[in-house]
Amino acid sequence: MNSATPLEPVDSFDYVIFGATGDLTMRKLLPALYRRFAEGQVPSDSRIVGTARSALDDESYRERARRALHDHVRADELIDATVNRFLRMVHYVSLNGAESTGNWDGLKSLLESNVAPDRVRVFYLATAPDLYGDIARHVAEKGLRSESSRIVLEKPIGTDLETARKVNEGVGRYFPESSIFRIDHYLGKEAVQNIIALRFANPMLERMWDRDSIEYVQITAAETVGLEGRGGYYDGSGALRDMIQNHLLQVLTVVAMERPASLDADALRDEKVRVLKTLKPLDRDNLRANVARGQYVQGTADGKPVPAYREELPGETPSNTETFVALKAEIDNARWRGVPFYLRSGKRMPEKLTEVVVQFRAGESGLFGEARPGSRLVIRVQPNESVTLPLFVKHPGNSFGLDEVDALSRLGEPGRIRYRDSYEGLMLDAVKGSPALFVRKDETEAAWQWVTPILEGWREDTNGPDTYEAGTWGPDSARELLRQAGHQWVEDIAA
Ligand code: BG6
Repeated sequence: MNSATPLEPVDSFDYVIFGATGDLTMRKLLPALYRRFAEGQVPSDSRIVGTARSALDDESYRERARRALHDHVRADELIDATVNRFLRMVHYVSLNGAESTGNWDGLKSLLESNVAPDRVRVFYLATAPDLYGDIARHVAEKGLRSESSRIVLEKPIGTDLETARKVNEGVGRYFPESSIFRIDHYLGKEAVQNIIALRFANPMLERMWDRDSIEYVQITAAETVGLEGRGGYYDGSGALRDMIQNHLLQVLTVVAMERPASLDADALRDEKVRVLKTLKPLDRDNLRANVARGQYVQGTADGKPVPAYREELPGETPSNTETFVALKAEIDNARWRGVPFYLRSGKRMPEKLTEVVVQFRAGESGLFGEARPGSRLVIRVQPNESVTLPLFVKHPGNSFGLDEVDALSRLGEPGRIRYRDSYEGLMLDAVKGSPALFVRKDETEAAWQWVTPILEGWREDTNGPDTYEAGTWGPDSARELLRQAGHQWVEDIAA
């Protein structure tokens, strides 16, 4: 199968994963490394060292890894001989990274055996974030950190501004910012990166990318799934922390940022931070007018009846956690002042869909009858990555009737180019030491700075979330949010 571009092999490395028996490692991290190994980017003398508390040996961990590959990698990408060669690179050390006792010596001697001292070492932290500081400390104090070490932090970085700062300070005490890689897998999605190309490689779009031409922007990340057995984590988090604080705000920054001086990591991230810092604050005084939150009740998902959120929680506990958020953000700068950025994300929506809709302003002219509605640029992030921009053309014949045609670009040719999972590129970027698609400390904190007052406002609001039936586009309050400005969510316009 063709790849988008051939992948340059990287130098051999060691990847140490904390939280190696967890869901993320099995679903995403091991499959990502396997695919890059199968494509020839990962040299076979690299090592992947899983660590977790379970008492496993190399062989039993390899068996788990084999099952994970079978469950999460497409059958046509699984070749037995390649899987076996990959699994030979996999090791396991039973260790609680948050405690200083334990087999740190075993991990150290494994990492130091038979390799050059300057070999790249990546520590991937896929545990609960409140352990990150302790793990970083132990890695440093036990002498595991080398000149060529990097540390990758999975989201969430904290649960509010204060805890995020704590995580950042805890890890920052032992690793310089240049070797800390905070992952946001949405930045690894081709279609999200493509927004930067669309905006800055097309002078026409670049000139129109402002309040004079754009009426509003909608960014949606909808999922059909519910809790998927993650109730413990999700109920303490909710949609605002789980999706908006990181993924959707990251997408917003690439849609809204000023032209960066270059594509270098810091040039890009400087501009993204500036957007976050220019977001108008939402707090208890303006929350109701700008934010809708919902929780699903019984309904359908993928055509089957599904229970309410509260029934899915262990012990069916009453809960005010939001499974849906829609909000109106505004960027207070010359380019965007007055243009609403509508963000929404929810579980148990009618379809799995991530999309950016840029609505251009309507025309004035009555030349062709009624004033033409403004064009709508749609960037489909997933599934079936595409960019569409409908244009009006003359209907063939004598009169000036109009037809709408779609300028459509499919970003991935289904069946021809394998659209790489976002974790693949990001995991290898950490090996290469390329931080452009990772989130800098000040970015995470600026995002939390904006989100935390919303959480505080909700805490004081005893009404709790509105309800919506599973399988619908969220509560009425989400539609009301736009109605006030004479706007509609994209599926309502299309209906
Ligand atoms: C994760 C969230 O970060 O992103 C999950 O914790 C969510 O709740 C997932 O399901 C969505 O990712 P994607 O790539 O499927 O849109």
